[in-house]
Amino acid sequence: MTNSARVILAYSGGLDTSVAIPWIKEQFGLDVVTLTLELGQGRDLEEARQKALKSGAVGAHIADVRKEFVTEFVWPALRAGALYESKYPLATALSRPLIARHLADLAVSEGATAVAHGCTGKGNDQVRLELGIVALAPNLSVIAPARQWGMSREDELEYAKARGISPPVSVENPYSVDENLWGRSIEAGKLEDPLFEPPEEIYAWTKSVNETPNEPTYLEIELREGVPFAIDGKPMEGISMIEHLNELAGFNGIGRIDHLENRLVGIKSREIYEAPAAVVLNICHRALEELTLTKDQHRFKDLVSGHYADLVYNGLWFTKHREDLDQYVSSSQRFVTGMIRVKLHKGTCSVVGRSSPYSLYSYEQATYDKSDQFDHLASEGFIKIYGLPTGTQAKFQPPSS
Ligand code: ARG
Repeated sequence: MTNSARVILAYSGGLDTSVAIPWIKEQFGLDVVTLTLELGQGRDLEEARQKALKSGAVGAHIADVRKEFVTEFVWPALRAGALYESKYPLATALSRPLIARHLADLAVSEGATAVAHGCTGKGNDQVRLELGIVALAPNLSVIAPARQWGMSREDELEYAKARGISPPVSVENPYSVDENLWGRSIEAGKLEDPLFEPPEEIYAWTKSVNETPNEPTYLEIELREGVPFAIDGKPMEGISMIEHLNELAGFNGIGRIDHLENRLVGIKSREIYEAPAAVVLNICHRALEELTLTKDQHRFKDLVSGHYADLVYNGLWFTKHREDLDQYVSSSQRFVTGMIRVKLHKGTCSVVGRSSPYSLYSYEQATYDKSDQFDHLASEGFIKIYGLPTGTQAKFQPPSS
């Protein structure tokens, strides 16, 4: 007996990707093998696997990829200072190239001819996944059922029922949520009205400021070459550090971001993020760079950060350009080692202390007390060199005698 050709489907366990299993078989005659990855989204993977098989998949794989997510994607983005439009720590965007890589790898080992995903035609994620596939395995074709099938929600439920696929058990979430260790993205539903204040019910990781402790929490976070490795003197590896900070900073109401962002498909969209650990660690990382980078390095690094964030957002992870930027970032991080003390209180994370063996701060140059070593007369030189700003001179004509 010969098997029919196979497709690897990125499977979440939700309705869309479950319906995609019979739909692909009926439309294209392809057998579906699913892949569900653990990225810290807090879902039961084994349950998803069973559901895939029940929905007609000929094979169903699960894998915990949190460690590679942190070391190969999250830490490089943190070192790069990548915040899209200076706000979004890119949790969803950073996970897509990793998913694409696992889809491509499984396609090779299963001898599949195509991969499939459940993205619609309006978002960024379809582009990120497909650019990843094109870069890594250009011979694979891509099927995007939810973009192609043209079913309404009602049609889809009907279609599922007719094929024995159970509808979502809980009351359907009116928002679209994507979650991993680095953050939670919430969009659509009533949030599409940019005037509408996000209701408390959308938040799952962060407390409302009204409910946060009155006492602040202080933390000392240590970084080595731009990568955090210890809190309060206790070494921690990436996953547990991020989980710990999500909990602690979220408990203090930190990490809510309301972003009206520019999607790569050309529309503006209103997105809410919860990213307590990402917010705290980006603040610490930046504070340490303030202490250890020279003025020129710091200014140039900011340009690179913006560029890097755009590149990640736009799905261009597997490019030579990203590798080049990573080389610059790595070089820039060689002195970004030290400790940042932060105060978590009522929705804000403030830097209250910093130290580094590579600190460029000089007390003797900065101080106004008697240990001052700054040459005050040097300023006369600056003024002679720069003169008055152009255009101001005319106002200071000496009165004619
Ligand atoms: N707008 C964000 C991004 O493009 C998040 C998208 C998250 N997806 C979702 N279904 N909420 O990275």
